[in-house]
Amino acid sequence: MMEKQAVSWVVERHEEIEALINRYPERRSAVLPLLHLAQEARGYLATEDVEAVAELVGMTPSEVTGIVSFYSLLHRQPRGRYTLTLCQNLPCVLAGAEALAQHLRQRLGIAPGETTPDGLLTLEETHECLAACDGAPVVQVNLEYATHMTPEKVDRLLEALRAASQEAAAPDGEEDDAGGL
Ligand code: FES
Repeated sequence: MMEKQAVSWVVERHEEIEALINRYPERRSAVLPLLHLAQEARGYLATEDVEAVAELVGMTPSEVTGIVSFYSLLHRQPRGRYTLTLCQNLPCVLAGAEALAQHLRQRLGIAPGETTPDGLLTLEETHECLAACDGAPVVQVNLEYATHMTPEKVDRLLEALRAASQEAAAPDGEEDDAGGL
């Protein structure tokens, strides 16, 4: 029988993983930090990552899959470099979030849940308040917030993200940053 090959992040980050697991009285308590570590390594959680985490913490893959599906920041599919999440809760809608959603879909040529063909941007819309209503309408860019958004500001945001990504790809490019948008 062929032996199962360890996924690369488990091998490469072996010490970090052990230290993380040892922080908790029970191995299974490390499941979320390990899932984040796995996602950081691949960009999303493939089946082999879920299986590896399950093995590391002594749970079944279906138990871990259940946890992954509960958390919106954990992803089972490849994502763009940047995820734009547009709040569609009432205060944001009253401030123009629906028109903004239409503008974003049109500009990117994709529907919510999809990623641009160049792999740069994933579009999401949420009906959960992003807890920044004083800045409505709000677009979350990965973990940062862009507030008081208008179609013009969205266009500038998209340009800035494209420029940041090109800079990062250039040989002497500086680190990209969605900050200050
Ligand atoms: S309703 Fe959009 S941030 Fe609260």
